Amino acid sequence: MSRSASSNFLWRPWIPVTEPVELQITEARGCHVRDAEGTWYLDGISGVLNASCGHGHPRLIEAATSQMRRLAHYDPMAASHEPAANLAARLAEIMPGDLNETFLLNSGSEGIEAALKIVWQYWRNLGQERERVISFAAGYHGTTALGQELSGLPFTVNDWDDRFPVDQVTLPASPRALRTPEGAEALLARFAQALENGTPAAAVVVEPLLGLGGCVVLPEGFLAGLRRLCDEHGTLLLLDEIFTGFGRTGRMFGFEHDGITPDIVVSSKGISSGLIPLAALTATTAIKDTFRNSEVAQGLRYGHTTGGHAVAAAVAIAVLDVMAEEKLVENAAAQGARIQAGLDAFRAHPKIADIRGQGLVIAIEADSPETAGVLATAAMRQGLLVRGERGVLRIAPPLTITADESLELVEKLGGAVAALD
Ligand SMILES: Cc1ncc(COP(=O)(O)O)c(C=O)c1O
Repeated sequence: MSRSASSNFLWRPWIPVTEPVELQITEARGCHVRDAEGTWYLDGISGVLNASCGHGHPRLIEAATSQMRRLAHYDPMAASHEPAANLAARLAEIMPGDLNETFLLNSGSEGIEAALKIVWQYWRNLGQERERVISFAAGYHGTTALGQELSGLPFTVNDWDDRFPVDQVTLPASPRALRTPEGAEALLARFAQALENGTPAAAVVVEPLLGLGGCVVLPEGFLAGLRRLCDEHGTLLLLDEIFTGFGRTGRMFGFEHDGITPDIVVSSKGISSGLIPLAALTATTAIKDTFRNSEVAQGLRYGHTTGGHAVAAAVAIAVLDVMAEEKLVENAAAQGARIQAGLDAFRAHPKIADIRGQGLVIAIEADSPETAGVLATAAMRQGLLVRGERGVLRIAPPLTITADESLELVEKLGGAVAALD
């Protein structure tokens, strides 16, 4: 160790190595977090957009510790254990149609990686060689190689050749114009074109709301239209609900807004409320059955030592209980509407281009990345942590946020907007 003891040895994800760490969080409770100086902030980003039941929920801590005392985990290939089996059954209960078959992993990226491998093998099980995948150019699906090939945002991908043929669909209009009937039609037309041009597509992979790609709320009816198009082309529809799932948009899953049933759903973040790493891939029984009958492969060519960890699964079951008892999906819809209504006053501000949201995903689009940066810093001075990402403030507080805390959030954002004048 040649550097001084005070040097920072931690290599942070994404952030340039030259950028100093300005904030050190030492404690978190409910919707608030405290820094090393003792200042408390309202957490407008739920930790890493995942602490949906709030920080330190006693029920979740109890579920984790009692499971840890009983059994932390066991080889998922040699045996099964109750928490993982029960979680899979609970997910089958809350998912529509025959979305019954769950595979458990540690992170969202792994979920996407495994889903793509399942898609690839599914077509081979059926004796077809479909490989082409269609996604959004402004989509984000993870950090692993396959996840990166689907992601179109240049700052999230490595500069290497595609190994999986992916066609990316660009947005035909601004996020604001997309919410008009013409915008919605133009968007669907682009997906129709992508499906028609080229070899038959293996899958369409989309987020129900583009999170990292500008917090873009997709038009009502878009997913229903996409489901129709996928059915016409015999293409699988894979929904990345890593950010939107588990109540974030005011419905348990984002696809519920359009009443559709996807073929595969990948969830993470809110599934364990950020207490412990976990992701779930849920596929239809029809997909899994092709593996049962396959002469090529019955087992998945995928798995992790800690996939389906018993403690993580026990926490996820407790998350589902807490969400039902505390009516967190309903609360996300109600508080989201309250916050958006509170922000109406700022829509006419000359430096604000758009304010949009769905449930407890709320975005303030500034006129430039600089303005968004000023807003994020000013919000922090007001005692509110939000994300400033390439011109957009992303706000996603815990689903446990109360009416008073929602008003506090709006007030603090108002203070930040005032700093623009
Ligand atoms: C929509 C979406 N997909 C995939 C990922 C990747 O998940 P993870 O960071 O758990 O690997 C994220 C993470 O932010 C996400 O928001």
